[in-house]
Amino acid sequence: MRKTQHSHTARAFSDRRWMIPFFASLLVFATLIMSATIGLFTMPYSEDELSDDFIPYNISEDSSSLFVESDLQRSHYPSGHASVEAPRLAYLISGTKGDSHRMMRTLQGVYHPRNQYILHLDFEAPPRERLDLTALVKNDPTFREVENVRVMEQSNLITYKGPTMIACTLQAIAILLKESLEWDWFINLSASDYPLVTQDDLLYVFSNVSRSLNFIEHDRISGWKLKHRSKSIIIDPGLYLSKKYEVTWSTQRRSLPTAFKLFTGSAWIMLTRSFLEYCIWGWDNFPRTILMYYVNFISSPEGYFHTVICNNEEYRKTAISHDLHYIAWDNPPKQHPRSLSVKDFDKMLKSNAPFARKFEKDDPVLDRIDKELLGRTGRFVPGAWCIGTSDDGADPCSVRGNDSVFRPGPGVGRLRELLQGLLSEEFRSKQCS
Ligand SMILES: *[C@@H]1O[C@H](CO)[C@@H](O)[C@H](O)[C@H]1NC(C)=O
Ligand SMILES: *[C@@H]1O[C@H](CO)[C@@H](O)[C@H](O)[C@H]1NC(C)=O
Ligand SMILES: *[C@@H]1O[C@H](CO)[C@@H](O)[C@H](O)[C@H]1NC(C)=O
Ligand SMILES: *[C@@H]1O[C@H](CO)[C@@H](O)[C@H](O)[C@H]1NC(C)=O
Repeated sequence: MRKTQHSHTARAFSDRRWMIPFFASLLVFATLIMSATIGLFTMPYSEDELSDDFIPYNISEDSSSLFVESDLQRSHYPSGHASVEAPRLAYLISGTKGDSHRMMRTLQGVYHPRNQYILHLDFEAPPRERLDLTALVKNDPTFREVENVRVMEQSNLITYKGPTMIACTLQAIAILLKESLEWDWFINLSASDYPLVTQDDLLYVFSNVSRSLNFIEHDRISGWKLKHRSKSIIIDPGLYLSKKYEVTWSTQRRSLPTAFKLFTGSAWIMLTRSFLEYCIWGWDNFPRTILMYYVNFISSPEGYFHTVICNNEEYRKTAISHDLHYIAWDNPPKQHPRSLSVKDFDKMLKSNAPFARKFEKDDPVLDRIDKELLGRTGRFVPGAWCIGTSDDGADPCSVRGNDSVFRPGPGVGRLRELLQGLLSEEFRSKQCS
């Protein structure tokens, strides 16, 4: 009884109180209707935008330009037109214990005041040898004047089949990017490489080549490489130990990547500054992701740049599948290429390649190349920049002339022939496929 009575009084009480909220909400309602009709409030979302939550967002050409990446791409990707000035090259010449004199010979063979050079002696070379090499560079009057030859003080521990090789190449590129604003292509040489054309020939012919082309021999990974290389996992102790050990192989296998395609090819490359800036800066993170992937990959120098370039929509169009080297392999191929000798001279010449490898230290074929192909008698392979006298065995390169003038020699014909083949439609149709 008490309960009912209580609820009765409660209802009677609240019966009187409903009127206040009722009129209050009536007022709000009326205000809303009025404001909606006179447009006092604007809805935070229009109907179109709301419905976009339920349909997949259509990323059109226009909308992608709203994101930061498109700005980077626009400012970065090669536009393809050749610059009016003659090109400049940046060379990395690397060597190991006992290589310093060969490195100097190769350096002088590819020297031109327009270019940039960086020398790296790896960790196996004793500090004494590094100091001697630095002294040779420091005491050369031309190098001292032009200031385009550098010796890396840091000697990296390098496992030639491991990621430490790629790391060292990337470090050299980073130094070259920071030290010089003016180079168009990066070329990777070792102490056992030698040029077959003069720098005058090379620079003269490449003046006419689009500065966006990357010379990198590449192929989709297949066959035994697919099985043996892309599924195995290695660890390169050179990354974290201070003494050199061989790479260790894991018994575990990994599956093939599905987020990108694997490519492989020659470790000898000629890459554009634009592509290498992309690799070093890594602003779309892909070059970095691939670098991390290749840490556990055997022979990463034969795949890293290849996989990066062929998985990028813009750069893959610029990849020309040639490494610009003449390299002779045994048949069937062994792990290392054959050393070249005088017997290989004609084949080297016929290949039209600007570089060849590998040569034993002071092999007689190098003297023949100096004499017949490079016209080298003194320190440097002479070019139009050498305007001194050569009377009485004097060095004509001790007097430097205009370095944008070239004296084209017989190498020009061979190089042009090579490039004609490489830039033909038929050849280009096979890019990154
Ligand atoms: C997406 O954009 C394309 C091209 O602009 C257009 O044809 C298509 O109808 C659009 N799709 C949707 C769902 O809006
Ligand atoms: C660069 O040159 C060295 C030779 O010193 C070679 O072993 C290496 O694989 C090359 N390529 C790359 C991509 O580092
Ligand atoms: C560059 O190309 C033009 C036209 O194709 C040609 O006339 C010129 O001789 C070439 N120059 C060099 C340095 O190859
Ligand atoms: C060097 O040669 C180039 C091409 O012939 C010319 O344009 C330039 O003015 C020359 N520079 C000097 C300093 O003589």
